[in-house]
Amino acid sequence: MEPILAGQGKTPEQLYEHLSRLEDPVSYTPESCARFYEQIQEIRRLKRERNAVVLAHNYQRPEIFEVADFIGDSLELARQATQVIADVIVFCGVHFMAETAKILNPEKTVLLPDLRAGCSLADSVDAESLADRKEELRTLYPDLAVVTYVNTTADVKAESDVCCTSSNAVKIVNALPNRHILFVPDENLARYVQQETDKTIISWDGNCYVHHQITPDQIAAVKKNLPHVKILAHPECRADVLGLADAVLSTSGMVRYAKESEASEFLIVTECGLSDRLLLELPEKKFYKVCKLCQYMKMITLGDTLESLRLMRHEITLSEEVRRGAERALRRMFELS
Ligand code: 13P
Ligand code: SF4
Repeated sequence: MEPILAGQGKTPEQLYEHLSRLEDPVSYTPESCARFYEQIQEIRRLKRERNAVVLAHNYQRPEIFEVADFIGDSLELARQATQVIADVIVFCGVHFMAETAKILNPEKTVLLPDLRAGCSLADSVDAESLADRKEELRTLYPDLAVVTYVNTTADVKAESDVCCTSSNAVKIVNALPNRHILFVPDENLARYVQQETDKTIISWDGNCYVHHQITPDQIAAVKKNLPHVKILAHPECRADVLGLADAVLSTSGMVRYAKESEASEFLIVTECGLSDRLLLELPEKKFYKVCKLCQYMKMITLGDTLESLRLMRHEITLSEEVRRGAERALRRMFELS
């Protein structure tokens, strides 16, 4: 997990210089950066007052990185949530991520700045349907294990044997003694895992609306014009898109790949926030993006983050029974990975 130091102590002018590198003249003007500067100062003061930390997902708005104590992918953030020494966690990400932090930290206050920040993938499965499907399949495959992507609600996790993330899905499936796996809920990630294992993967039929809309034609067009570009794709993309990629990686896996690679130009096939993080962190390299925004991730703003800390809203709560069940599945993931 990487501490974010880049934004600390920037003046409004330095903040503008930094964010204007994204070439988004609507979002980043001298006026908006002056406003962000005020909000950043106030968030930092409130963090000290409340003994709070801010965890942020890689897809968040770049001004939010300026107040984040940690940024990362789902696995890194879940791991980080087990190590937080603070009374309050403000989660700049989507609802299932904040829930994961709460599952692992029942004694802490976990806040999500905007409760509308959901996830189309998490919405594609509910605990009742999963319980029914599990029962039905266990009559056919008595050794069936349910492997659930972290992009799910806590009660779905509680119905599962183990969780996984985009960076460890193959490892988790291969580490289980079971031969038959019900993989929930992402059909694209399930198909990718099937290619990497000799176990039988039975997939749920969910997908992420952001990644599922990316087509191979869009990738092929870039490849045709810029054949030297390295193509990094997220495993939530369709199989025909993944087939064109040089590497299939989680969001932080893409950051590491871009930092370590000798290549200097990349096409980043995932939500646009990740390309923004890369553009700001690796100015000497060039990043092309597919321009897909996750409306849920982008619902979290710096202003809402400030209000969340000021008013201690919106707190994530869970029943203890669900929390314990979900914690069991998450802890098993940590053990197996
Ligand atoms: P990562 O775990 O790779 O960051 O993915 C999370 C996510 O929501 C992708 O859409
Ligand atoms: Fe969910 Fe897709 Fe948004 Fe990730 S990008 S939070 S999977 S809707």
